[in-house]
Amino acid sequence: MAQQPENIQKFLSQAQEAANVIKDIAQKDGFISCFSHLDADGIAAAGIVGKMLQRIDARFRIRVMQWVDDKIIAEVTAGKPQLVIMSDFGSGYIDLLNEKIPNNKIIILDHHQIAGSNSNSNFIMLNPHNYGIDGATDVSGSGVAYFAAKAVDSVNIDLAPIALVGALGDMQDKYEQRSLRCLNEIIVNDAVTSGLLKVEKDLTFFGRETRPIHRMLASTTNPFIPGLSGQESDALNFITSLGFPIKQGDKLRALCDLTPQERKILCSAIADYLLSKGLHTDVDKLIGYIYVLTKEEPNTALRDGREFSVLLNSTGRMDRPSLGIAICMGDRKTALEESDKILEEYRKNINKYINWVQEKPERLQELQNIYVIHGENAINEKIIGTVSSILVSTLAKNLKPLLAFANIDAEKVAKFSGRTTEAALLKGVNLGDVMRLASEAHGGKGGGHNIAAGAQVPLDKIEAFLKTADDLVGRQLNGEKLGSNNNP
Ligand code: C5P
Ligand code: C5P
Ligand code: ZN
Repeated sequence: MAQQPENIQKFLSQAQEAANVIKDIAQKDGFISCFSHLDADGIAAAGIVGKMLQRIDARFRIRVMQWVDDKIIAEVTAGKPQLVIMSDFGSGYIDLLNEKIPNNKIIILDHHQIAGSNSNSNFIMLNPHNYGIDGATDVSGSGVAYFAAKAVDSVNIDLAPIALVGALGDMQDKYEQRSLRCLNEIIVNDAVTSGLLKVEKDLTFFGRETRPIHRMLASTTNPFIPGLSGQESDALNFITSLGFPIKQGDKLRALCDLTPQERKILCSAIADYLLSKGLHTDVDKLIGYIYVLTKEEPNTALRDGREFSVLLNSTGRMDRPSLGIAICMGDRKTALEESDKILEEYRKNINKYINWVQEKPERLQELQNIYVIHGENAINEKIIGTVSSILVSTLAKNLKPLLAFANIDAEKVAKFSGRTTEAALLKGVNLGDVMRLASEAHGGKGGGHNIAAGAQVPLDKIEAFLKTADDLVGRQLNGEKLGSNNNP
């Protein structure tokens, strides 16, 4: 979506206002308590906020969590902070914060849809939705944190690549050939100008730095290549037949190790293969923009923006967010080594959960307007979002959103992760509204973006919630707007 320059200017002035408050409190040696969301974008945001505060010698603490509720409010005020910073969440909690801690100074650096209106002068909110900028595609939570950090001190421009990793983690590369645009593009330009990023056009398969080429092909689902996706030995035969070496010494080569000529050969071979299967439209998906972090070591997950984001996601979702934050703040030693192991575990878990869902057809329930995955106690509640993101693409031809849930018995709630597709958005679906309204109708809480949103719902209200969500999606598909005041 093209943005008006004056909207961007207004957003940047608000970033400066937030920055002035942060600097002022740090100068007075105030204690700053930071909270961030546990996915890749939230962790990148926490890393940016942490580095910015470290550089101005602030006294601070960072906590990462999945959401904020009544119980967590006590933690927010623990240690009597002079300032609370929330990143990658907060815009859905204005009413709660107003009710519980109206006198605390709070800065919200977020890109989620805003619920309620902010009339409390103690709360400063930096959110693109306030300026007509789409928070689902044009800037992420880490990007918003980046603009605040840059306004605190221009030295923080070196954090631009981390902000882009967050945007890629939130799947904001939704523009032509998987590019980042609008506010994200300003960050791209900052990173390129500082010599920290190279933007290239290449094959967009996931794993370009770390996966041997045949494994990269075998693991691709978008595009799905019949006969190669999921078939490692056939993928190996395919690559071997192309005539270039698949090894360099003992090491299997990754996509990034190929020469431009070899890449061309690979690309046309895959294109020919797809065409031979009649998959013309998938050929267009092969090439797109790649975001290379030039100061990172080649053949590591940190070199490619998309691989980096999955690594961060794994630290958050496997209960080790401090590793991800340390990496974003510059640790390239112990934190990096440990996070590689966490990433492996995370992948194993995801595979286990996807297999579990696919094992029995009844685990994917089809209602009138939505699909439901009953993860209950079989899927970890912190990984349900990833499972939902992966599986929605297998249902992409359908306009029905996917709502997956896992139980959190100790809290007597189910954690729902809703995901939908671009096609459904065009038909009027807005999951942020659905999750917020349906959960609130049954004693829960929810919200998020039009394309990806979540909710917590009391265990005994799951069926009622699903019924309401199903109805609400039906109404949206019939053209009804359900009343978020800031839809993109
Ligand atoms: O809280 P936050 O905005 O960072 O999270 C958005 C979540 O939604 C991420 O986990 C991201 O992977 C997911 N997402 C998605 N599909 C999209 C956009 C975002 O699954 N198209
Ligand atoms: O948790 P999950 O990855 O499914 O969340 C999808 C999106 O919805 C995220 O951007 C998350 O921050 C948001 N969300 C929310 N309020 C909730 C739960 C999730 O805004 N109660
Ligand atoms: Zn985010």
